[in-house]
Amino acid sequence: MNLVRDEKHGKIIDVGSYQHFMIMMEINEKKLKWLIIFQVCSTIIILLLITMLCFVNYPVIKKTFIITNITNITNNDLQQNENITTLYALDPEARTFCFHDGKYGHTITNGAVYNRCSDIDFNGYYNGNFTVGIEGSRVGTIIDLGSSEDLKKKYKYYETVGNGQGFASIHRKNNTIFILKGNAYNNTFQVMDESSTLFQESSTASSSVILGHLYLIRITDYSNAAFEHIAKILVIAYRHNELVTIRWELLI
Ligand SMILES: *[C@@H]1O[C@H](CO)[C@@H](O)[C@H](O)[C@H]1NC(C)=O
Ligand SMILES: *[C@@H]1O[C@H](CO)[C@@H](O)[C@H](O)[C@H]1NC(C)=O
Ligand SMILES: *[C@@H]1O[C@H](CO)[C@@H](O)[C@H](O)[C@H]1NC(C)=O
Ligand SMILES: *[C@@H]1O[C@H](CO)[C@@H](O)[C@H](O)[C@H]1NC(C)=O
Ligand SMILES: *[C@@H]1O[C@H](CO)[C@@H](O)[C@H](O)[C@H]1NC(C)=O
Ligand SMILES: *[C@@H]1O[C@H](CO)[C@@H](O)[C@H](O)[C@H]1NC(C)=O
Repeated sequence: MNLVRDEKHGKIIDVGSYQHFMIMMEINEKKLKWLIIFQVCSTIIILLLITMLCFVNYPVIKKTFIITNITNITNNDLQQNENITTLYALDPEARTFCFHDGKYGHTITNGAVYNRCSDIDFNGYYNGNFTVGIEGSRVGTIIDLGSSEDLKKKYKYYETVGNGQGFASIHRKNNTIFILKGNAYNNTFQVMDESSTLFQESSTASSSVILGHLYLIRITDYSNAAFEHIAKILVIAYRHNELVTIRWELLI
């Protein structure tokens, strides 16, 4: 009884399950096709994403790689992009600086020190001073604006904690220098008192280096009327007779 029932049962199931099996096979085949197509597509998309990521991150990867090789990199290389530079009083190359390209002013070539582009000198001409207008026919003006606190009091704009809005806002339009007026995000500015002095010919070309002070610098060339470099700098670190770190920006 058991056997027959089993056989019957088995047969019925067999017949049913064969058709079912065929349908399932078809469905599975379709499913498989779609699965394969889906996998191929997703692989392509993933590859595309990885490629894109590499492209976007390439500069970062490259930079990281270069920075990893610390034996071969100068302070200047690292800081140049941030407009922060350290000048070293005792270094043959690194005690002068060129605002035009953000690199040190001297170069050692074939065993000799050459001037490349020295807009500003630290300590070389006068101990404890910045000196500007030092190349051949160049003349310079440097104005000590005082500290961020001094500027804040004088021009009465709103500062952030730790200051910085004053320095950030100083800019130039034609031959006038402006600084923030009121709120930093209101886009309102006032003319700086020091503006006219900066554009007068022949003023002091040397000023003592003071930690935290801002300076305006203008360099012209009496043999080339078209030449003019105007920059603002902020002394952010200073060790007397040794080094000074500045944040700088050309005003164009
Ligand atoms: C660093 O750079 C030097 C010179 O280019 C090279 O010989 C050295 O293998 C580099 N080191 C690393 C860790 O990449
Ligand atoms: C790194 O060092 C190698 C040799 O030591 C030199 O050829 C290469 O110019 C240096 N790179 C930089 C960016 O200074
Ligand atoms: C100031 O510069 C603008 C262009 O930026 C120019 O149109 C204008 O004539 C200049 N003014 C003076 C007085 O040079
Ligand atoms: C900034 O601008 C807003 C609206 O434009 C004005 O209400 C506010 O008084 C201004 N603040 C300062 C300090 O200028
Ligand atoms: C150094 O700068 C100060 C002003 O900050 C100036 O009085 C002094 O004369 C300068 N030194 C020289 C030798 O020019
Ligand atoms: C660096 O200085 C240049 C011009 O001197 C300016 O265009 C650039 O915005 C400055 N970058 C920063 C981060 O201050």
